[in-house]
Amino acid sequence: MSEARGADATAPEGPPAAAEPIPLARPVIGAAEEHAVLEVLRSGQLSLGPRVPAFERAFAARLGARHASAVSSGTAGLHLALRAVGVRDGDEVVTSPFSFVASANVIVYERARPVFVDIDPVTLCIDPAAAAAAVTPRTRALLPVHIFGWPADTPALERLGLPLVEDACEALGAVHADGVAVGARVHPAVFGFYANKQLTTGEGGMVTVGDPALKERIDAERNQGRAPNMDWLDHDRLGFNYRLSDVACALGLAQLTRLDGLLADRARAAAAYREALVGIDGLGLPCADAGGHVRGWFVFVVQVPRGIERDAVVERLRARGVASKPYLPAIHLMSYYREAFGHRPGEFPVCEDVAARSIALPFFPGLTEGQVGRVAEALREALFS
Ligand SMILES: Cc1ncc(COP(=O)(O)O)c(C=O)c1O
Repeated sequence: MSEARGADATAPEGPPAAAEPIPLARPVIGAAEEHAVLEVLRSGQLSLGPRVPAFERAFAARLGARHASAVSSGTAGLHLALRAVGVRDGDEVVTSPFSFVASANVIVYERARPVFVDIDPVTLCIDPAAAAAAVTPRTRALLPVHIFGWPADTPALERLGLPLVEDACEALGAVHADGVAVGARVHPAVFGFYANKQLTTGEGGMVTVGDPALKERIDAERNQGRAPNMDWLDHDRLGFNYRLSDVACALGLAQLTRLDGLLADRARAAAAYREALVGIDGLGLPCADAGGHVRGWFVFVVQVPRGIERDAVVERLRARGVASKPYLPAIHLMSYYREAFGHRPGEFPVCEDVAARSIALPFFPGLTEGQVGRVAEALREALFS
């Protein structure tokens, strides 16, 4: 984390300039990314070229996964992974209501039913006991979400003996308590590379998986259902266009070479926030690494003290030049899910309480200590003035 440059002693006198607004997120793109992308543009092979398997191999190696398939988004990856583990019309998939809406939408794409269960109030991930209680003969799979980069208790869910698809879209760099990186277990795990993620390709995603047969199916279905050795005029299964271009994969490869630094910078920014915010009465902070769990820092989300109106705090922060966002709303209370599945408030009290009080603060690798200090000061004022 770098410190902002101090005032210029030679600057002309005048009223102090208003402080620069602090954005919510900002990707780190440098000469390595520019060079890698230019090389692809000049090569003339913009898609279905060599950067795709190169990115897949490098990503799998970085995590210790056996295989990886590059896809056009995290959502596309989740959709293909669910199909690969056999989710079909009429099935149930047990999942978290405290997530980005895509993790539930992909279940509905296959005309299966998302069966939401409440979350753990500390980790904010699916509560394994609640998941076990929700299993029925129709349950085809479990879809835990490593929310805000915290490794969900996958080992406990594995003991339920059902197929799993991990939503690791927010969790690059996370490690389970047993020392296995998120994404390096046998079942599919899905990462997202949208612009605010730990590693970005603008839009994009990756499915990691242990079973080569699942990789083959995912690769075929991302490419209109064409098997790797099959002529493009014939297709042996239904598929989609969920491919990731060589341009995006080149960007991803360049980002991967700097991933350790990006993750370390995020962890440093999170530590600075924790130090600056820890004394604020009633403010909920993200749980700290413990017992071998390592968070892959993606966002820094706080929960406003009970009794304080969250949306007013967001507005007061904005007026002080600090971008922030209510993050995340409960999926089951979104209009579509209420109408399609008849959900009502009160079903998942932990999730609803957390969702009503959560705010994402500015968070990115280049965040300076000065900016963290400004955000902390603005947050104190916004909460208690
Ligand atoms: C938890 C979670 N799941 C799924 C997704 C979907 O990823 P994408 O936007 O790449 O489709 C996201 C992305 O923001 C996410 O945060």
